[in-house]
Order: sequence, then structure tokens, then C-alpha cells
Amino acid sequence: MASTTMSCCVLLIFIFLTSIMVAFSGDLNNDFEITWGDGRAKIINNGELLTLSLDKASGSGFQSKNEYLFGKIDMQLKLVSGNSAGTVTAYYLSSKGSTWDEIDFEFLGNLSGDPYILHTNVFSQGKGNREQQFYLWFDPTADFHTYSITWNPQRIIFSVDGTPIREFKNSESIGVPFPKNQPMRIYSSLWNADDWATRGGLVKTDWTQAPFTASYRNFNAEACVWSSGASSCASASTSSASSSWLSQELDTTGQDRLTWVQKNYMIYNYCTDTKRFPQGFPPECRTN
Ligand SMILES: *[C@@H]1O[C@H](CO)[C@@H](O)[C@H](O)[C@H]1NC(C)=O
Repeated sequence: MASTTMSCCVLLIFIFLTSIMVAFSGDLNNDFEITWGDGRAKIINNGELLTLSLDKASGSGFQSKNEYLFGKIDMQLKLVSGNSAGTVTAYYLSSKGSTWDEIDFEFLGNLSGDPYILHTNVFSQGKGNREQQFYLWFDPTADFHTYSITWNPQRIIFSVDGTPIREFKNSESIGVPFPKNQPMRIYSSLWNADDWATRGGLVKTDWTQAPFTASYRNFNAEACVWSSGASSCASASTSSASSSWLSQELDTTGQDRLTWVQKNYMIYNYCTDTKRFPQGFPPECRTN
């Protein structure tokens, strides 16, 4: 019985995976919609550029039109420059409901010349508390850089300009739920979080510098698109998908770069925070 069920599922997964869609459109209007901010978020330059802004009255945000179940999702971001202390630019994938899954990039602003913190987290079935934080090896406000999430059934890889900074492996075999059943949308927002973001809330947003602006361009998703209500992916593929991301794992170069980032730029890892977990680390810390 178990093996019949198994082969049925393997077959289904196979059918499902052969209908990968590649979203590669230059026009951000095709893939995203502005969701809040009363005019503070804009898609401009014929859909080439999206900007979010924040002032004292409000931040702003957008979301993807599609929901995705696995994919390699790239976006170029240029963060709020100058004195961005107190501001947070969140860029993440999330599903809905009380047992949601979520894969987060959050950029915590800082005083001019002081480093941003890139904060990452992974939620599965509504449970997060898996923070890792990094400084970057470049100024993320000076130019656009590519932030990628590779999400397949075995792992989630966070990358910056092609350099992996974090890998979250599927640890279901030791009882840790992994995001793999709930389609997720891409969300992004720019908002004020000066109660905690910069030096733990010590540095407040300087509203004389407002409006604050973050920019987005060159979205590229090689991903499985979930079509409304149907339990299979849309096959509106326009190009032959090289779906290597679906089974992607880190090769030696990737491993080396990950080690380099973790050694030189990681400033917080929940898996080494003994104060926080006096009774022992979460189980996935053993496999990750
Ligand atoms: C801001 O700069 C301070 C001082 O260099 C640093 O301790 C902190 O980690 C930086 N980033 C944030 C978001 O607070």
C-alpha cells in the first residue's frame, strides 16, 4: 500500500515538475501589483523599475500576481541610501493562513556609512525563530544587487549576487516541517521599524530625510507557478526551462563561498545562540 501511494506521488510530482514555467518578462507590471502606500509605490520606465517609498505618514508595498511552489527567484534591489536608520525593506515569500510558510530577506537600515544588516528567516507551518543575520561585502545602497531565493523540495538557498549566504535544508527526516505544500507569493514593503531595527531600536528614523526610497528591477523567476485553485502548475511556458534549480545543491565552490560569508559576514546565527536555547538548539541546527 505504502509503495503504491509512493509511486503514485512520484508520478504526480514528475508530471507536475514537467510543467515548469519560466517568468522572464521585462515588464514588472506583468508580475507585480502595488498593494498599499497610497501612491508611494510606483512601477515606472515602462515597467523596468519599481520604487517603494516611505515618509512619516506611510510606507508602501507590492506583491506578486502569481503564487509559486518552488523556484529560483531573482530580484535586483537598491536600498534606501544615506541615513536609512529605522527603515526596513522586507522582501520575502509567504503563503497564507495560520500555519504559513515564509522565506525572508529583510534589510535593516543604518546611519550613513554604517552597515545595513541583512536579516533572514525561514518559517514552516507558522513557526519561524530561525534568524541568521549578515553584513554585506558591498554598499547595498550604491547600486543594484541581485538577491535570490532558490527553493526546491530539498533545500532553500539564499544568495546575494550569486554567492550563497544561507542554506536551509529539508530536515523532515528528523521531524522539522519544510515548506513544500503551500504556494507562496512574493511580497515586499518599505516601512518604519525604528522601535527595533537599528542598533536594536536605539537609532530612530530621521524624518527630515524622508521620503526614503528603495528600487527594484530585473525580476526573474524560473519557478513553478500555481494557478488559482488547481493542483498543478500552469504550463504557460515561453521558453524551455532549464530547471536545474529544482535539484540544485551547493557544489564545492558554493560551499566555499557560503563558508566565506558565514565566517566573515554572519553576525547572528540562532543555531549558536546558547542563551536563547539553553535546553538545546532546534533539531535542524544539527543538519544545517
Ligand atoms: C549599524 O551600525 C552599528 C555601528 O556600526 C552596528 O552595530 C549595527 O549592526 C549596524 N546595523 C544595524 C541595522 O543596526
